[in-house]
This record gives sequence, C-alpha cells and structure tokens, in this order.
Amino acid sequence: MDLVTALALARTAEVPGPDTPPGAPVPDWPGPSRPLPEAGAGELDLRRLLRLSLAARDGTGRLRPAASAGGLHPVDGQLVVGPGCPLPPGRYGYDPLNHRVHTLGPAPGDTPPGATVELSVTPQRTLSHYGHRAWPLLLLDTGHAAAALRLAADALGTGPAAPRLDGRTAYPLATVHLPPPVPGHRTPGAPTARDLLDRRSDGPPLRGTPPRDVLRTLLTTAVGAGTDCLAWCAAVGGPRPELLAPAPDGTLRRFAAGEARPTLAAWAAGQGWLAEAGAVVLAYGCPAGADAPLIRRTHLRAGYAVGLLHVAARRHGLAARPVGSWQRADLGAALGAAPGRDWIVHGLALGTTHPQEGTP
Ligand SMILES: Cc1cc2nc3c(=O)[nH]c(=O)nc-3n(C[C@H](O)[C@H](O)[C@H](O)COP(=O)(O)O)c2cc1C
Repeated sequence: MDLVTALALARTAEVPGPDTPPGAPVPDWPGPSRPLPEAGAGELDLRRLLRLSLAARDGTGRLRPAASAGGLHPVDGQLVVGPGCPLPPGRYGYDPLNHRVHTLGPAPGDTPPGATVELSVTPQRTLSHYGHRAWPLLLLDTGHAAAALRLAADALGTGPAAPRLDGRTAYPLATVHLPPPVPGHRTPGAPTARDLLDRRSDGPPLRGTPPRDVLRTLLTTAVGAGTDCLAWCAAVGGPRPELLAPAPDGTLRRFAAGEARPTLAAWAAGQGWLAEAGAVVLAYGCPAGADAPLIRRTHLRAGYAVGLLHVAARRHGLAARPVGSWQRADLGAALGAAPGRDWIVHGLALGTTHPQEGTP
C-alpha cells in the first residue's frame, strides 16, 4: 500500500485486528560481527554515541534509549564510516542487541569524515501490533531515533550532528551525520549521558499543569527544531483550560479557550488518561492532500522534535510520554477552520507528578 493511502487509513476510526508476529528485532546482517573499537585521540567515539542512542539496554526490560511506539523499535541503522573514526571506512550494519557491527561493503568515494547513520525501518515489527495504524508511527519512531543520535552527540560534546529529515527518500528514511570531534565544541544546555540513559516514558496518570515558562521553553524548542512544515500548540488543563501557541516574539498566546483534552483522548485511540494530563503538546499540519515526501517530512520532523522535547521536559522535572496514534484528529476543523488541513501528527503528554514509569 502506498504511503498516502496508508496515512488516510490510519486516520480513520477503524480498529486494528489481532496481533501478528513481529519478526526478529534486528536485521539478519550478513557475515561475522565485530565490536566497535575504542576511539583514539581526535576520532569519533562511535561506541559511546551508539550506546547512548540506539543500543539495547539489558536487564531493564527496555530495548533502546529512544522511545518507540509500543516498545516495538522498528528502526534499523547502517553506518557509512569515513575518515576520523575507530572503524576502517566502509558500510556497516549495526546490531543494537549486541552493540556490534557487520561489514556490508565499501564506503562511497566521497564519504565525508565522521560517520553517517542511515535510518530505515522493518515495518513488520510495528505492523504486528498497530496494523493499518503503523505507518505514521514508523515515521515518528525514525524521528525519535534521529533525535537520540543528535542528543548523544550533544551529550558527548562531539561535533554538531546534522540530521537529514527532508522526506525525499523512502530508503533510507533519514540520516544523521556525526562529524569527528571539533575541539572546543559544546552544545549549550546539552543533556548528560545519564539524562539519555535514564529517559523513560512516564506512566499515566500525568497530572498537574506544567509551569508556563517551561511550556514556553518546550514550544520554542519545538519550533526551532527545523519543523517549519508543522505548527505547535499545547492543550493545558487547570482552572482555565486553553490551547496555547508559541508567538513569534517567543511568548505564549492563547490560541483557543476551553477544554480540549477529552477530545484529544478520544482522538488518540481512546486513551482516557490524556483527558487528565497536565498538558499535551501537539504538532499538527500534514494536510489531507499531502504527497509521500511531505508525509515523511512532517512525521520525521515531528518525531525528531518530540524526541528532543521528551528529554528536555524530563530535565525540567516534568513527567512526559509521547502519544503517536491519532484518528480523526482534524484539529483545525475542530477549531472552526477549513477541514483537512491541520491534522494532529504527534503529541507529548506532560505532568508535574511522577506516579510510575512504564507502559499503561
Ligand atoms: C512515536 C511514538 C508514539 C507513541 N505513542 C504512545 C501512545 O499513543 N500512548 C502511550 O501510552 N505511549 C506511547 N508511546 C510511548 C511508548 O509506549 C514507549 O516509548 C515504549 O513503551 C518504550 O518505553 P520507554 O519510552 O519508557 O523506553 C509512543 C512512543 C513513540 C516513540
């Protein structure tokens, strides 16, 4: 099924059928595997970068540091390695369960210094549970994986990561270039390695309205994360429920008055806990007539931005959980604008309480 049809179907009220087998969690990369060597002086520390972003964690019941719809982790990574890395130049398949690589072939002649992580998906893993609702989630998950790579580069203070999330290609869906270390480079406000390894999706209920200045910071971060193809707002509860949107001057403006959260809960596969969430940050856009590149771009970028916000929200002391499955969620039409233009693409539920972590 083509992506345009798949998204239209995912947005309907139709309910997925019973689960099917998810298949193997890692591609069957050919040949023997090898460990990621320790990085020498001036080399890109691929071992630590991947440990903080794509590697499985054992003993904790979770697969990767990044969030993933249903914990199904459909995203696979290939590394195109150039000069300045502890591995010889070449193309490698990454095995996140064993944190090892398989040599797949030579790198193209014009491979830049550092490494480029090419992200693609094995749809079966997510299809196994979400059926016809899987495709938007597969794209969002890829965005979260790209955010995890960017955050890992920030945490380790290597050179600035350069994600490509333009949606132009179905394979790979996205790439993140990681340059060799740039002496003196630091990303202001970078997370720590612990922030990344401790990231979880907090379990509902997520109650308590987040402070307005934190909401403003998060929405400004979302807008600044290369999401010009999307718009952002936050549905907040409390005594004066409303929808807040980031204004061009960096403040928050009231975008609509009234209670949106019960409607959001109905639109998000009937997840009732959303009606009580302290706030729900929403990315919206991706009109009904969007072609495949625009569908990919909006979903990849929404996933990327929510991945950044998820870690940022927790560093501000909030509880946070991504919400990716939306049906009939035409936010624009619900607010009285033209129908079919402003569909909810992704969300991040927030609260000030931390009752528990894990899957609801
Ligand atoms: C794209 C995406 C969509 C998600 N959608 C939902 C959702 O609709 N409801 C929910 O409770 N959790 C949702 N999650 C959170 C996942 O269930 C969670 O990431 C997964 O169980 C792994 O747990 P962890 O994030 O604590 O590692 C979503 C996560 C992602 C990345």
